[in-house]
Amino acid sequence: MSESATLDAVKDARDEVYALPIESLNVAQSKLFRDDAIWPYFERLRAEDPVHWQPASDFEPHWAVTRYNDIMAVDTNHAVFSSEGGISLGPSEEMIAKLVASGAQMTGGPFGGGAGPTMFIAMDPPKHDEQRKTVSPAVSPHNLKIMEPLIRERAGTILDNLPIGEPFDWVDKVSMELTAMTLATLFGMPQEDRRNLTRWSDMVMSRPGDGVVDTWEEKRAEMAAYAGYFLNLWADRKAKPPEGDLVSMLAHGEATKDMNQFEYLGNIILLTIGGNDTTRNTISGSIYALNKNPDQFAKLRANPDLIPSMVSETIRWQTPLAHMKRVATQDYELGGKTIKKGDNVVMWYVSGNRDDSVIENPNAFIIDRERPRQHLSFGFGVHRCVGNRLAELQLKIIWEEILARFPEIQVLEEPQRVPSTFVKGYKSMQVMIPRKL
Ligand code: HEM
Repeated sequence: MSESATLDAVKDARDEVYALPIESLNVAQSKLFRDDAIWPYFERLRAEDPVHWQPASDFEPHWAVTRYNDIMAVDTNHAVFSSEGGISLGPSEEMIAKLVASGAQMTGGPFGGGAGPTMFIAMDPPKHDEQRKTVSPAVSPHNLKIMEPLIRERAGTILDNLPIGEPFDWVDKVSMELTAMTLATLFGMPQEDRRNLTRWSDMVMSRPGDGVVDTWEEKRAEMAAYAGYFLNLWADRKAKPPEGDLVSMLAHGEATKDMNQFEYLGNIILLTIGGNDTTRNTISGSIYALNKNPDQFAKLRANPDLIPSMVSETIRWQTPLAHMKRVATQDYELGGKTIKKGDNVVMWYVSGNRDDSVIENPNAFIIDRERPRQHLSFGFGVHRCVGNRLAELQLKIIWEEILARFPEIQVLEEPQRVPSTFVKGYKSMQVMIPRKL
């Protein structure tokens, strides 16, 4: 499509959204994320109805909170906004009935709460704090220093093995590889098993037919294999003295050593997805954003000291986790609306990150912003992302190594996006590297 045809299409889509009655606006639609069509919806909600009641649709009923400061107010108040009801949007009752009728054995998302697995991201203090403390040392500044040369060596090897002058999928060959290698090291797993982590992470997050597994039986079998693998690792680490990897930390940590299987596996799912999809999608997002903004790429090439702020800008611009959910423990006034005790409240980080009352020119990708770390992508409050420095480190290293090798990376076509209201990212991105430096 020509540039003017693209602009016309964007304007038409925006006009259509603005013609809808405000109460009918529903941003919780996977296809809007798959098609990158969510922006006018969020723009209008922020302006006209920033704390918006969303009745049951494919997802459970909830308040959609879309402004930066309202999101902060929710995220930093865990006494009123609890994580124990699950931290991502679960299906509506109607959707559950449909899923059951189609033979589904697991109807909730992995973070949906209720009967789903228990994990510390879906707990409130004090239990949350104790379990978080157990795993935090794995990503402490001290441990990151130790990991840095290993990540750099791997990033170099991955980049040196890329084909030159022919198309390939950046998501598969680079983003998935690097993040899977890092996570396998964190878990203390053999490197040859690393791509299981990518597969399991995608499998947990998708429904049969979404491209990972075809049937519920297949999904159940893969869940069992995933659980079996990590239960074996647990048994192995229990039998040995404490080591520095995450499974050993959980197996020997005071607050976690007596966890039941479900709690252990819940935390493994949390760390698998936390450590995998988010960073992977930011790496791919940085390639995409710099391609769409050649002036910013030229700035970066001229001044590689901008890498850390470019990384933060990508994390804001991409917002790898589009939302987090809470449940109100009491009635609460927010943005002129009364949230009732028991209501679901969804913080749309992806929208808060585009709020122009807080971030100047927020839709633009600008790698030398004054306050690049001013974004909501890692959350705030007691659940603020534990792995944020590790994510930034991987991004920084891969870009230092890219700039040392390649003059440019061309994105050949629009990437395929993940059809999810939660993980905001890319299934594949065809690129070509014309030549080495
Ligand atoms: C929590 C985003 C990378 C592990 C979170 C939260 C967000 C987030 C939004 C919840 C914050 C809240 O509720 O206030 C991201 C993004 C990443 C990233 C955007 C990459 C760019 C990682 C990595 C790891 C990780 C690499 C693993 C080492 C976790 C864990 C939690 C968490 C364990 C739960 C923290 C808690 O409940 O206390 N992350 N994350 N994340 N993340 Fe990340």
